[in-house]
Amino acid sequence: MSTVGKPIVRADGRAKVTGQAVYSYEVRVPGVAYGVLVTSGIARGRIAAIDTSAAEREPGVLAIITPRNALRLPGKTHGENPDRVVQVLQDDRILFSNQPIAIAVADTLERATHAALLLRVRAEAQSPTVRLEDELPAAFPHFIIAGGRKQEPDSEHGNLGLGLQEADFKLGEAYETPPETHNPLEPHATIAHWTAPDRVTLYDSSQWVFAVRNKIATAFAIPKENVRVVTKFVGGAFGCKGSPWSHVLIAALAAKQVGRPVKLALTRQQMFGMVGGRPQTIQRLNLGVKKDGRLTAVRHLTASATSQFDVFVEASALQSRHLYSCPNIATKHRVARLDIGTPTFMRAPGESSGSFALESAIDELAHAAGIDPLELRLKNYAETDPTEGKPFSSKSLRECYAEGARRFGWQKRPEKPRSQTRDGLLLGMGMATATYPANFQPANAVARLLPDGSAQVESGTIDMGTGTYTVMAQVAADALGIPYEKVRFDLGDSEMPEAPISAGSMTAASVGSAVLVTCNVLRQKLVELAVADPASPLHGARPEDVRAEEGRLLAQGRSDSYADVVRRAGGKPIEARSKAAPGEERSKYVNLAFGAQFAEVLVDPDLGMVRVSRMVGAFAPGRVLNARTARSQLMGGMVWGIGMALHEHSVYDERIARIMSRDLADYHVPANADVGIVEPYLVEEKNDPGNPAGVKGVGELGLCGAAAAIANAIFNATGKRIRTLPITPDKLL
Ligand code: MOS
Repeated sequence: MSTVGKPIVRADGRAKVTGQAVYSYEVRVPGVAYGVLVTSGIARGRIAAIDTSAAEREPGVLAIITPRNALRLPGKTHGENPDRVVQVLQDDRILFSNQPIAIAVADTLERATHAALLLRVRAEAQSPTVRLEDELPAAFPHFIIAGGRKQEPDSEHGNLGLGLQEADFKLGEAYETPPETHNPLEPHATIAHWTAPDRVTLYDSSQWVFAVRNKIATAFAIPKENVRVVTKFVGGAFGCKGSPWSHVLIAALAAKQVGRPVKLALTRQQMFGMVGGRPQTIQRLNLGVKKDGRLTAVRHLTASATSQFDVFVEASALQSRHLYSCPNIATKHRVARLDIGTPTFMRAPGESSGSFALESAIDELAHAAGIDPLELRLKNYAETDPTEGKPFSSKSLRECYAEGARRFGWQKRPEKPRSQTRDGLLLGMGMATATYPANFQPANAVARLLPDGSAQVESGTIDMGTGTYTVMAQVAADALGIPYEKVRFDLGDSEMPEAPISAGSMTAASVGSAVLVTCNVLRQKLVELAVADPASPLHGARPEDVRAEEGRLLAQGRSDSYADVVRRAGGKPIEARSKAAPGEERSKYVNLAFGAQFAEVLVDPDLGMVRVSRMVGAFAPGRVLNARTARSQLMGGMVWGIGMALHEHSVYDERIARIMSRDLADYHVPANADVGIVEPYLVEEKNDPGNPAGVKGVGELGLCGAAAAIANAIFNATGKRIRTLPITPDKLL
């Protein structure tokens, strides 16, 4: 009977492939004007002068808004970290390349684009710094925000020095990951429509409508209730749409200033710098191991880049606190300031970059100690959390290792590096562990049973392509006992019950729990109506004896339909509102999801070209709400791992601190031709006690460890250990 878990196709799939899905930029707003941003070419300095006269003379131009004439915002433009510091034409400072410095507003997109090109900007430039290694001496500790919680940058457990002394084999190496930039197919886009002087509606491509609402309300000093934010479809996000950036406020400002709704989309080039990205990291791993394979020391130090005016910490070393059983574990996070836009959460922020370092180092240690890399991991399997001492909410990593190894054929791995070829190419196999926090934050929902027996469920969450529309309807259907087809789940509106940011892989757990709890309340309400109603066949039955199935309430061989219950109660929808939030139970555990990644590569010995011919991943993410969307999420993560290992790099021209790989021709992500066989498998794990839905989340887990598995396979194929991503052919020659 259960709908949850079934591989149901996306509720919004047809609308998307037929073009019926209306994305934020496409919402029809009468009288809308078009905004086009002008961004800085220098990374540090100030605007000395902007000549707007040529642009202003163009037909159809409504305004050229610069720091000289922009409306002064009455309120603060940013709150507490992680709400980002933004640049909204309020002063003449230039803090990074590609910072917005003006907006051209016209009656058509073409005219606005043309006008933007006519601006003549004179800037006073100072020489910028963009080399992380140069700024390491000034790096500083800063608290970490992960899964919505503040965490300490440093940790120390046991005695690291002693641990290293006891080791028979030691490793001390540095690993680097490059700056990367999110590239969802749909760039950031906003429509701002003031419906009254103190009342605005925004259609924004966002991962969190409530953050947009709050930021706009604060900046414009209007009540939150006067701001409505709508996000029905998001064409990918991956963290960059988690914070409202400068352009959102600029769209609202421009709309107010010209007295017309304004729509504003970033160009692909404008995505590089202004809306976050994964910061560069330099990580140092010190590991010690006994001859028998037991770890004696794990030290993980990491430094990442942030901007001059805000702090984002790429928390690469957090996982080292939890992954392996070891008496001596120390971690340290530092950030260094560069003349760049503030980096931000980018899919598996910290876990992806950090797992490259940690899981490469473990592989190196295994090689040095002459132990199979999987065997070494099993020897140091953490049954309970090694630093917090608590049990895991659930952990099926052993099963993941076994399932992944079996499906991949790990026993066929060439033991000696550079010892096997296929069709003249070097063949190698590698593996790595995947782990990602099972996050859960308070979420609210509303559920209504309609007179026709169907249900309408809402929560102000979003669906960035992950399957929220679909899985929430599945959860509601089971909780109410009605068919999936009879549930309509709606989302993406700040007037709906509040939900947390759709990030940190926590939507299924958080909103799924809210929907579950709320639908349980609604079912109970309907049961009580039925048993109390003399006209109901269930009259007088004990509520606890009533169960719901196929839209009917059943007890002792008698039954009543939801439709009849609602009709007899007056015919108005019966509604319930409720919420789910982390409770006592959850804090007893360390809440993590786990998986195992396996990769096979073929490397051209003459050209250094790498093909990832095969990837197998086995993941245990708690309860699976939809086998198809979960698998797709994991597959997307694994494919991203190919990009992280081999392609992705925001390449700076260091003289001007400007990203030069500023489009999808130069910023490489894996295309179909780069992707071989990618097989994610779900390892069954009983309901996780961390949240009512029993879910751990799959959004980011599939990327964790993926780049390391590929790098380890490349070592196995070539005998070359590459510690700096991406692994481009030049590094292998
Ligand atoms: Mo999450 S960093 O929004 O993929």
